[in-house]
Amino acid sequence: MNEKLLKKAFEYAKEIRNNAYAPYSHFLVGAALVTKDGKIFTGCNIENASFGLTVCAERVAIFKAVSEGERDFDFLVVVTDTNPPASPCGACRQVIREFGKDMEVVVANLKGDMIKKSLSELLPDSFGPEDLI
Ligand code: THU
Repeated sequence: MNEKLLKKAFEYAKEIRNNAYAPYSHFLVGAALVTKDGKIFTGCNIENASFGLTVCAERVAIFKAVSEGERDFDFLVVVTDTNPPASPCGACRQVIREFGKDMEVVVANLKGDMIKKSLSELLPDSFGPEDLI
């Protein structure tokens, strides 16, 4: 992972977190997804009065990127205001898995603490597209 790009993605994730629409949980999350060719797609969580319709920051970033034709991802940065930084929920882990069995996930907080994890560590023995063939 390119450290300069990591720093940039972290700043993007921190910034986009301010756009989180979280009037129910007040838990703001920002994400920045970096493609293999260095493009960055951001996302924040978007809640709904019908709570189950809430979409997490990670999935917003992934869906934005995929809808723009991107599928080759290098790493994902997730920023929360927690200590230690919070990890992606189970649903997001499965959506990340679809596009990156070995994707690196960096969980970070506003202070700048960063923990690098791999998707296979977060979601071992996973089910993915190859299993359908
Ligand atoms: N949330 C995320 O955006 N990403 C996660 O991985 C965990 C949870 C959001 C969903 C909801 O808006 C709020 O955080 C509290 O669960």
